[in-house]
Formats: sequence, structure tokens, C-alpha cells
Amino acid sequence: MDMDKLVSLCKRRGFLFQSSEIYGGLNGFWDYGPLGVELKRNIKEAWWQDMVRGHDELVTPPGAPSAYEMTGLDSTIIMHPQVWKCSGHYDLFHDWMQTCRQCKRLVRADHVWNMIKEAPWALSFAETLEVTNWGDKLRFNSLRTLQWAKNKGRKTAPNLAIVRNPEVTLSWLSEDLENNPNLDLDLPTLLQYMATEQKAQTGLQTPCPHCGGDLTEPREFNLMFETHTGAVQTEESKTFLRPETAQGIFVNFKNVLDSTRVKVPFGIAQMGKSFRNEITPRNFTFRSREFEQMEIEFFCHPSESRQWYQYWRDRRWRWYQDLGIPEGRLRLREHDKDELSHYSVGTADIEYGFPFLAENEYGELEGIAHRGDFDLRSHMEGKLVKNAEGCLEVEMVEEEGGKKRPKWKGSGRDLTYRDEATNERYTPHVIEPSAGADRATLAFLCEAYHEDQAPDEKGEMQTRVVMKFHPRIAPVKAAVFPLVKKDGMPEIAQDIYRGLKKKFSAFYDEKGAVGRRYRRQDEAGTPYCITVDGQTLQDKTVTIRDRDTLEQWRVKVDDVVEEISQRVS
Ligand code: GAP
Repeated sequence: MDMDKLVSLCKRRGFLFQSSEIYGGLNGFWDYGPLGVELKRNIKEAWWQDMVRGHDELVTPPGAPSAYEMTGLDSTIIMHPQVWKCSGHYDLFHDWMQTCRQCKRLVRADHVWNMIKEAPWALSFAETLEVTNWGDKLRFNSLRTLQWAKNKGRKTAPNLAIVRNPEVTLSWLSEDLENNPNLDLDLPTLLQYMATEQKAQTGLQTPCPHCGGDLTEPREFNLMFETHTGAVQTEESKTFLRPETAQGIFVNFKNVLDSTRVKVPFGIAQMGKSFRNEITPRNFTFRSREFEQMEIEFFCHPSESRQWYQYWRDRRWRWYQDLGIPEGRLRLREHDKDELSHYSVGTADIEYGFPFLAENEYGELEGIAHRGDFDLRSHMEGKLVKNAEGCLEVEMVEEEGGKKRPKWKGSGRDLTYRDEATNERYTPHVIEPSAGADRATLAFLCEAYHEDQAPDEKGEMQTRVVMKFHPRIAPVKAAVFPLVKKDGMPEIAQDIYRGLKKKFSAFYDEKGAVGRRYRRQDEAGTPYCITVDGQTLQDKTVTIRDRDTLEQWRVKVDDVVEEISQRVS
């Protein structure tokens, strides 16, 4: 699937717009248009219904160690700053970034090479040397390289060393090749030579993906957006926009226990906005700076936590498939030990083969993490770190005079749980299925996009763009058309439309040729179109057209609402 076509459809049909577009847009922020808001809302409602409201707490679901309860929460975006100190976000929630000394742009250190591989200047350089595979060994051709630097290079990578100072830059490579005729050159290594003017002082440089310039050494960059509460802006008034919804759940654990009759095992679910000042927001909405999460913190007895981890991995894996993403487009990936967060016992990602990624590459939709007792204990005792034995203990800092104190003090509240049946008191372990509402929406948009051949009004075959959303998440469930604007057809169509509207989103359209009206609904992903025609006036039936099969059948006017309800539920 061509991502550019999807991006253009999203704008043209009102799924997604760039935020503040009339002022040139704001990188990493996106607005959902009239169709997009319905789609995303349906996805969030499907999640809430399936995980929370519709959950049957009386039966043990397949694969679960026991029955369990689910409840919801809606906490604030700005919380006490100590929350982020104890959660570890204040100290550890950072990416490594590099700055280009010439164009001043910031790049995430771990994204640099992926960005270079997509950069037009690097692609044209590779083409000049006839390199198709980035890892292939190549023979260096100085003449072609110089020609490229003087022409395309000057326009597309003006700050690359070979463009700024070709003779000096080339001399380092010539010298190294002279000393070592067997020097292994592949494209990344050659690009580093081309980016290096002073090898003796700097070693080989990595070029800026944007302009070819020099990148600084990687520096830490905290991703939390800062703000201040109150009129006076001091260090004490500094607060943060939450980078995840999860912490709002942990700090309310005791409130939920005390105000409801839930017993461990149980889950608290929350969905809402999160904010991360991503260094390189990219790939449409995939990496945004403002996005929505759908998170569950599931509290269980430590002895059962591994079984619950397994259960939630499988449960969430099936959810995406139930809503129409085929198993073959998804991947369930267990993190390697060195990828795990400092507190995590195990994490698995559910990933989707987004079309903007290379073949066989997948992007994260959701992470399911076994967080142990890290969060509850951190908010109780103070920020925890792993000690030499691998056990969690409060992080201490030394004050003047050698006295030690906790780096960040916890709330001091008792966040343990007492099992009334056994009288056992313990800190529950947590399994966290954490999904992104915007990533899920993007995956459902990518999966829905289809082009096929269908006859137009004149019976000629034309390319049809059709968004094949699962009916549960389709922004509009049914559209109603009078074939012509006379003979009482609009009145009958409007009655049907009003009947449908009482149950779900429906659309009424009487403008233009009926074939064109069908096409517009195909692009919006409307599963069913209902047409009132001449026969309706005689036998009180209408046609229903199926978006995917193009099959049409007749139904009594009085049965339309029931028929569509059954099909979309
Ligand atoms: N509480 C755990 C947590 O926040 P995460 O893996 O950082 O874990 C969970 O985020 C999910 O949130 C991701 O799987 C993704 O779907 C979504 N997400 C994270 N960062 C995002 C971003 N910059 N833009 C869009 N979605 C994002």
C-alpha cells in the first residue's frame, strides 16, 4: 500500500489534518477531522467495552488463572511533580539526541541511520555509485563522487564535508586506501568518510540526515513537557504534562480499593492524552508529541503474575484480530533481556507491519509489561533502583557530611493489599497492557485502504478506493440515498435516515449521481448504503448495498434499521 495515497485520502476525506495547518502546521501534532474523530472514538469505545464495561467478572476466561474484576478511572494530565520523580520519569525518561552544527536540527541518536537511509541526498549518492543494498561492499569511484558533490550534493546536502571541501575530505579516504588497499567499504562507511573533513581530530563523522552537516556527540534529552502551576514560575511551581496515563492509576490504587469492593486480581483501565516531546516525530501520527493511550494496570498476587502476563499478552493479541487486522500483518515480540526497562520482569510488544516501514519491519502498537511491584513500592517508599543483587531498593544520595537520604521520597502511604480470606498482606504485582489509540487508529486506517475495480454509472470499470473498516469501528455505519429528488423518495429516505440515527452514525445524501454517492461512501468506509428507488414506491422495499462485496439485496423499509443493526453490531 502506498502511504502517500492514504495520507492524501485522510486529508481529502477528513480523517486527519495537520494541527494548525493554516499557520504552516506544528510538527508532531495532528487533528482528527469529522470522519477521523468517529473512527478513533469507535476504536476507544470498542476497547472500553471489550476490556472494561463488557467484561464478565463471574467467569474465568480461557487462559486466565481465575475470574477477575475490571474498573475504570479518569485522572488528571498534570499531577504532583513527585509522581514523576518516584516513577523514574524525571531521571530516566530521556532519549539521546544529537544536534547538527550547521542546520541546528535535532535528531534522535538511534534514528540517525534510518533517517539517512531515507534521505533524498543519500539515496541519490547511492544511485550514483550503483549501490542498491546498504551493507554491500563497494568499489569507490572518486570521479563520480566528485561529480555528485558538485551537482546533486550541492543542492541536497550542502553541509556535507565532500560538498564543502572536496579535496581535503577525499584525501582522508585516499590516504586510508593507500595504507590499506583491502579497506572494506560499504555505503554507511563511505558516507562517514564523505562527512569527515578533519579525521585526525574528530574520527569518522556521521552526517546529519537533513543537510549532511556535523552532528554533536549524543546528549540526554528529557521527553516530558514542562509547565508551571500558579502565577509565579519558579523551580517549585514546575509541573509536567503526563507522558503516560499509567501513573494516574498507581497513585489512585488505594482510592479505588477503598471506594469499591474490588479484590485482587483486578484491573484499572484509563484512556486519555499523553504528551512526549519527541525529538523526531515522524511517520504520520505514528510518533506524535500529543497522543492518546489506552492503558490497563492489572494487580495480581506475585505468585500468579507470570500466568497473568501470559493471559494479557494473548488477550490483547486477539483484540486487534477481532477488529479486522489479520494475524499475518501482526507480530508478537518478546523483548530481549537488555531491552527491558529497569523494573521489568518481561515485556512483549504487539506490532503491525506499517506500510511506511521496510519489508519485514514492524512498528509497536502496544506493549504488555510485567512491572512487578516497582510502581506501588516506588510511590510508597521512594524511587527504587536495582541493587547489585538485582533487587529493588530505594535509591539513596549522599549529602554533605556523608549522610545518606532517599533521592526522591515516596508518599509514605500504605499501598499494600490485605487478602481478607487468608489475611496475607503483600504488594501486588502489576501487568500492564499499554496501547496507543492513535497508533491503533493508524493501523486500522492502513489495513482498511484498498483499491479495486468496480463498474461506474456507465458500466465502465474504474479504480475504486474503498476503506474496508470492520463495521464496529467504521465512522459511518450506513448511508441513505433517494435515487432521485422527487416522487416522495427524499421523504422516505429521510425517515429511514432518522430511524438509523437513533442507533448509530448514519449519513443522508441526495446530491449527484448515485454511483458517485456510492464512491464517496466507499472512501469513508461506510459498510452499507441504502437506496430508495422507483420500486420502493410500489412495494415499500429498498436496496442495501454491501461495501465490500458490492452485492445488493432488497429489504422492507420497516426492517432496515433492524437489518443494519444486526450487521454492524
Ligand atoms: N505506561 C507504559 C507506556 O507508556 P510505552 O511503550 O512508552 O509504554 C505505550 O507507550 C503505547 O503508547 C505505545 O505502544 C504506543 O502505542 C503509544 N505511544 C507511545 N509513544 C507514542 C507517540 N510518541 N506517539 C503515538 N503513540 C505513542
